[in-house]
Amino acid sequence: MKIFVPPIKSQGIKTKLVEWISSNVNELDYDRWVEPFMGTGVVAFNIRPKKALLCDSNPHIINFYNALKNKEITSRIVKNHLITEGEKLLQSEGAHYYELRNRFNEEGNPLDFLFLSRSCFNGMMRFNKKGGFNVPFCKKPNRFAQALMTKITNQVENIYQIIQSGDYEFKNQDFKQTLDEITSTDLVYSDPPYIGRHVDYFDSWSEEEEIFLKNGLYNSEAKFLLSTWLSNKYRVNNYIFDVWGDCFLTTKEHFYHVGGKETNRNAVYEALLSNIELPDSISTGEMKSRIEAEVSLLTEAPTDNIIPKQLTLAFEE
Ligand SMILES: C[S@@+](CC[C@H](N)C(=O)[O-])C[C@H]1O[C@@H](n2cnc3c(N)ncnc32)[C@H](O)[C@@H]1O
Repeated sequence: MKIFVPPIKSQGIKTKLVEWISSNVNELDYDRWVEPFMGTGVVAFNIRPKKALLCDSNPHIINFYNALKNKEITSRIVKNHLITEGEKLLQSEGAHYYELRNRFNEEGNPLDFLFLSRSCFNGMMRFNKKGGFNVPFCKKPNRFAQALMTKITNQVENIYQIIQSGDYEFKNQDFKQTLDEITSTDLVYSDPPYIGRHVDYFDSWSEEEEIFLKNGLYNSEAKFLLSTWLSNKYRVNNYIFDVWGDCFLTTKEHFYHVGGKETNRNAVYEALLSNIELPDSISTGEMKSRIEAEVSLLTEAPTDNIIPKQLTLAFEE
């Protein structure tokens, strides 16, 4: 599967899990694909449904995609912006990043949002208590060299083509509003923030919201899938059993790197929860038994593998 990477970056981006998510939904029938938490949009843009409602509480994400949809932003306009602002970045030895960031925080231009997303530290998206973008510069004044500008321009063009080929609606709204708009023939892919993990102006999450989401999804009578994590090096995500206890779940082991070194690989078991059976899914109750019996947390090929050491450590804590 060729993966189309969107031009806007964010720390929660599901690029590496898109193929897996896609393999779990491609046999399902639905009229409309709905995401209450679209983030970068990488999941929808690669599943490529004919009709989609993509929402987020972050207005800058939605403004960017609406501008692309309405042709106020094109790949050519993006290229010119990156050339102009990239040149100023180089001339000012990086100081221009902070001028542009101030300008963005006053005016909210989607082209500046893209520029910041691609020149900030680690491609992070973070906003302070007043809603201002506050990620520092990546410290590479020559950031926008030809190769990167071509890459970003192509990403913009690819996503533009995908949006134009379907009936896509982008809305800046809270997930509670999106829940109200779901109908029973929709397929909902939900990727909420992790509870307590990441707190900023547009992106925080509580147990009450998790419960509200669960009830809203069930009441909508639509099929839904929800991304979360089952366990990491230190602990098990008990919300899966406490809040989503009557769901099916399928899992995948995923590695992320700390500091880019191969030796610093941390494993996390990603989970997809659903109100319908998915290929390889088991009930959350069955998963709980597996954890208690210390057998594999991978649902795809049930084995008697001993539970990974990091989980044994977590239970001892
Ligand atoms: C984990 S990210 C989604 C990542 C996305 N699936 C991707 O691959 O890029 C969660 C998103 O939820 C949004 N969000 C946080 N709280 C929200 C709320 N109350 N209503 C709607 N969206 C919210 C954040 O702005 C963020 O973009």
